[in-house]
Amino acid sequence: MHMEFASDNAAGAAPAVLDAVVRANGGYATAYGDDAITKQLERRFCELFERDVAVFLVGTGTSANALALAHLTPPWGAVLCHSEAHAMVHECGAPEFFGGGLRLVGVEGGGGKLQPEPVAVALERHFGLRPHQILPAALSLTQASEYGTVYRTDEIAALAALARDRGMAVHMDGARFGNAVARLGLTPADASWRAGVDILSFGATKGGALAAEAIVFFDPARAEAMAERRKRGGHLLSKHRFIAAQFEAFLADSLWLKLATHANGMADRLAAALTNAGIKPLWPVDANIVFVLLPHALHERLQIAGAHYYVTHTDRSDPANVPSGFVLARLVTSFATMESSVDNFIALLKPTQ
Ligand SMILES: Cc1ncc(COP(=O)(O)O)c(C=O)c1O
Repeated sequence: MHMEFASDNAAGAAPAVLDAVVRANGGYATAYGDDAITKQLERRFCELFERDVAVFLVGTGTSANALALAHLTPPWGAVLCHSEAHAMVHECGAPEFFGGGLRLVGVEGGGGKLQPEPVAVALERHFGLRPHQILPAALSLTQASEYGTVYRTDEIAALAALARDRGMAVHMDGARFGNAVARLGLTPADASWRAGVDILSFGATKGGALAAEAIVFFDPARAEAMAERRKRGGHLLSKHRFIAAQFEAFLADSLWLKLATHANGMADRLAAALTNAGIKPLWPVDANIVFVLLPHALHERLQIAGAHYYVTHTDRSDPANVPSGFVLARLVTSFATMESSVDNFIALLKPTQ
């Protein structure tokens, strides 16, 4: 029985993306991003975001975050992010490495989202005494968050205002930007720079590409020497047309939003059935991630039946502890999740009640 909820990266790539890669394979093209597909894509990004942007494609979300944060932050600077942010806990120190020693400062916040007050407290506590303390240089927020929640634009704007007051830049880790935009029903511009975001790590991989992430600068002047930073960081692809072709197909006809809408819908279906079975998701299911406390017996039954999902660490900020007799499960849907997969999973929920 097919029940794959481990990760959106467990899915393959969307056929339209693969077709675009095959199409791009014909003939020769100038290497290192000086090709027609990349040039066209750069214009497409400007249209999409309704302004001039500078775009740098890279192969992983970690490199997008790390290079972006390194660009915004001096080695004696700090990036404030959620204590469970991917950059904080799942990037093996890449932002600090590329940033020559910059420091990530984790701030707790309910539902995986930063809130202005704890950010303001962290800013008061850690910074201000020059030259003895590190300088706050950037605020990084993850949209959709690691908990599957989505910041509303007023929440982003409040955080951005706080950052702006301190002369800090605002970075958005948008590994699941599509899921967030699809849920919010906003334009990409409204969901990013108009809410106060300066730099976006725009992920396509989880959404349906093979491996394609974009670092988008909403102020191209800020991108000065980013080309060198990406090259030096080993992330300038020589056969660049293939990464550009993936994005071209991803953005064409709003494919990215259609795929994200499907993934979100599958998460909604899971969440509704779990709620009906008395297992309410721990946080609002705004995107394609559902966190639930599963009783051991049910967890075992699901495992035996072949359901794939991660049981996560028990130190997530809220709720602080997983009660005994339960596991904290993270279920992730994707553009490739089949309704039948969800329904197989749902059918297994019933006997425990
Ligand atoms: C929130 C978030 N940011 C970034 C990434 C990108 O990671 P990777 O380097 O694996 O592409 C991930 C992947 O799990 C993620 O969940």
